[in-house]
Amino acid sequence: MSSSLCSSLSLSSPSINPKSPIRFRSKSMLSTIRCAVGEVIAEPKAVSVAEPLLLNAVRGEKVERPPVWLMRQAGRYMKSYQLICEKYPSFRERSENVDLVVEISLQPWKVFKPDGVILFSDILTPLPGMNIPFDIVKGKGPVIYNPLRTAEDVDQVTEFVPEESVPYVGEALTILREEVKNDAAVLGFVGAPFTLASYVVEGGSSKHFSKIKKLAFSDPKVLHALLQKFTTSMAKYIKYQADNGAQAVQIFDSWATELSPVDFEEFSLPYLKQIVDTVKATHPNLPLILYASGSGGLLERLSLTSVDVVSLDWTVDMAEGRKRLGADIAVQGNVDPGVLFGSKEFITNRILDTVRKAGNSKHILNLGHGIVVGTPEENVAHFFEVAKGIRY
Ligand code: CP3
Repeated sequence: MSSSLCSSLSLSSPSINPKSPIRFRSKSMLSTIRCAVGEVIAEPKAVSVAEPLLLNAVRGEKVERPPVWLMRQAGRYMKSYQLICEKYPSFRERSENVDLVVEISLQPWKVFKPDGVILFSDILTPLPGMNIPFDIVKGKGPVIYNPLRTAEDVDQVTEFVPEESVPYVGEALTILREEVKNDAAVLGFVGAPFTLASYVVEGGSSKHFSKIKKLAFSDPKVLHALLQKFTTSMAKYIKYQADNGAQAVQIFDSWATELSPVDFEEFSLPYLKQIVDTVKATHPNLPLILYASGSGGLLERLSLTSVDVVSLDWTVDMAEGRKRLGADIAVQGNVDPGVLFGSKEFITNRILDTVRKAGNSKHILNLGHGIVVGTPEENVAHFFEVAKGIRY
């Protein structure tokens, strides 16, 4: 229903922006919000229940509300996850044991019923399968024991064979599909070549990215060789995830935005495009979502990758992002994760503002980056309740 058809809203809550062309229903907050067209109350058209809402939305089909999930929705803000961490203190164990991966992936599903259930894993999980050992150390984050800096180091990187190195990923995705059925989309993910390279060259997380930039700007051939290896392996990994149950796959190029646009065009964009083209050649209907944090300066270039969805971070205004990306591409995002520390009323208003700016198709509601540790679970519950009560 377009905003012009639905300009008169009757609202019973003072917290809702009356200019909003969307309707919102919530057990706890509102009794009725209706959109009247003449004397007739416009009800959302029945949509196919055969496919998860998220997939319908990405394809631009008519949906009654935006699908919603949250980046890092499985993890440390949940008490139930912290209990598992006490019993299994190693991140690698938690993310490489099928039963634990399934249990942790389903924790937010059981409580919040998001429209996307993302596999509990990490972008670094494939590294040991490429002969790059790593760990995630509490208080320190990712650690690469032998950072790669030379042509000889890059030569040692082997091609990833997912079924041999990470069979637990395929098994977990298959179980997740059985558990979730078509009530939500099961989401896989991979790290983008430049972001993976930033970890393995820097040796872990980085503030200034000086080591990878030294390599890029003094010995680019070596970095290109590494990026090509990650590209080939990640394209294979996406196909493996799809073949084992993932219904959409998100590519995280979290740190690509550390690059100037001209360097993004050399060290990230061609590899992202190659991944998309390789995957689409065999899996043309698999939706691919691309996320880069702080991407305002790169939006138009992100859409050149031919991904289906660009996931916006919260520093981009949703309406402006939409305009810059064009109508063909779907958008995801982009509520500031910090909003989840705000009042319930603030959270509600920010969700509605985002949904209104995104328009009534091709939008997946999400945060602009992962949930922050310490986010109150009740605010996450409120986020989902509001989001799922929306009607276009
Ligand atoms: O979204 C989800 O719920 C799926 C789980 C997920 C994790 N990592 C689990 C995790 C996803 C999608 C990721 C992706 C990831 N990992 C990215 C891209 C997303 C982004 O944030 O930009 C990046 C850059 C990484 C690398 C990484 N792994 C970092 C920076 C950290 C945090 C380090 C720290 O301790 O603060 C990790 C570890 C990690 N991966 C955690 C979780 C839940 C926290 C450690 C733990 O739970 O013990």
